Amino acid sequence: MHDAWDPELYERFKHQRAQPARDLMALVARQPGMRVLDLGCGTGEITAELHGALGAASTLGIDRSTAMLAQASARQAQGLRFTDADIRTFAPDGALDLVYSNAALQWVDDHPALLARFKGWLAPGGQLAIQVPCADGHPTHTVAQELGERYGTGSLYHGGSRVLNAEGYAALLYRLGFEQQQVFTRVYGHVLPDIDALVTFFSSTLLNPYKAALGEPRFAEFLRDYRAGLASHLGEPKPLFFPMARTLLWARMPQTIRP
Ligand SMILES: C[S@@+](CC[C@H](N)C(=O)[O-])C[C@H]1O[C@@H](n2cnc3c(N)ncnc32)[C@H](O)[C@@H]1O
Repeated sequence: MHDAWDPELYERFKHQRAQPARDLMALVARQPGMRVLDLGCGTGEITAELHGALGAASTLGIDRSTAMLAQASARQAQGLRFTDADIRTFAPDGALDLVYSNAALQWVDDHPALLARFKGWLAPGGQLAIQVPCADGHPTHTVAQELGERYGTGSLYHGGSRVLNAEGYAALLYRLGFEQQQVFTRVYGHVLPDIDALVTFFSSTLLNPYKAALGEPRFAEFLRDYRAGLASHLGEPKPLFFPMARTLLWARMPQTIRP
C-alpha cells in the first residue's frame, strides 16, 4: 500500500497542502536546542522547513514509503535526518521536545493508544502537534467508498473511523496529562481549476490503496468512475471550490512531570 505513494503527484498541490502544515508549525513554542520527530514525513519538505523554523538541534523524519523517502533523504541540513520506519512500531532513541505529524495519522489506527505512546516519548515541557484531515462526509471520500464496494476491494480508507472529533482530542489530551492545549477544526478553501484537478488531488493520497489493490488498468477505470461520481455530486464548475476540513491539535506537557 505504501509504495503507491507518488511524490511527483503529491507535490503538484504543495501550495494547498503546505498551509495546514505551516499553521501547525505556528502553534509550536520555539525553545533552544529542540529534539524533534516528524511522523509520516513524506518528501521531507515540511520536515526541513520545521527544522529550520525551530532552529532545532535534531529533527528525525520517519516514513514507510520508499518513494517519498527517496526525496526526503536528498535534503541536507545540520541535525536533519530521515529514516524508513513505520509509525505503528517506531520508538525513538531518547526523549523528545516535539512530536509533529502533518496529514499522516489518518492512516494509523487507534488514536487514543497512539497519542498515549507519543506522550511517553516527551521530555518535561514537550509538545505534540498533529494535523489530520476530517473530510469524510465530502463526496471525494463517500464516492471512493461506494466505488470500493462496487470494485470488490471494500473501503480502503478508514480515516473517518480513526480520526476523533475536536472535542474527542481535547478530552484525550486532558486525560493524558497535557497541561496546555489548542484543538480546532479548520476548513481550507481550495480553488482548483476543475473537477479533474480534484481527482488528481486525491489520486496521490486517498486513492493510493485502491491503486495498489486494483493494479493499473482497473485503477484507470476506477478513476473514470470516480470522476463521474464526483461530477454527479458537484457538477462541473470552473473553477471548482473545494472546502477541506482538517483538525489541528497542539498540546504541551507540564515542565515538571509528577511520578
Ligand atoms: C499525506 S502524506 C504527508 C507527508 C508530509 N507529512 C507532508 O505534510 O507533506 C502522508 C505520509 O504518511 C506516510 N505514512 C502513512 N502511514 C504510515 C505509517 N504507518 N508509518 C510511516 N509512514 C506512514 C505515507 O507514506 C506518506 O508519506
